[in-house]
Amino acid sequence: MEEKNIHIRYRSTQSIRDFDLDVQALIAETIQFAEQAYAPYSNFRVSAGLILENGQILKGTNVENASYPVCICAERTLLSHAVSNYPAQKIKIIAIYVDKDLPAPVPPCGLCRQTLVEVENRQKKAIPVLLVSKNGTILQFDTCADLLPLSFSADFL
Ligand code: THU
Repeated sequence: MEEKNIHIRYRSTQSIRDFDLDVQALIAETIQFAEQAYAPYSNFRVSAGLILENGQILKGTNVENASYPVCICAERTLLSHAVSNYPAQKIKIIAIYVDKDLPAPVPPCGLCRQTLVEVENRQKKAIPVLLVSKNGTILQFDTCADLLPLSFSADFL
């Protein structure tokens, strides 16, 4: 059998100043927005924000439900909003934040990765993803596809 390898490159920083001013604003607004999370069952507050190509910032949070499987993640709240309200606008960059003291940024769940890849494929332009942690560490992935290697897509349909 032939061995194959998948290489994923990403960057890590402790300094928000490594980013352009519009991205610094996105990060700051996304962090702040975790306050709006509706997470009474898990108390795990997640927020996500993005910049559209027109410069507008959109944000979303996780929205939980007493029927637990109905919970929706912050990333999909945000992406549903962006896709349905701004179909003609490409997304420049996405930031994801978890409001919990953890040693490292939290990666998005599988459903959210699949949704990120769908949106990225649709717009035919890479969307960088920033994973922002409460301790100040920020990871940057250059594309959503990097977060979901071997992803399923419309190419197979
Ligand atoms: N959650 C997100 O918002 N994004 C993720 O990528 C992972 C999980 C939310 C869903 C639920 O409200 C809470 O975090 C605990 O799973």
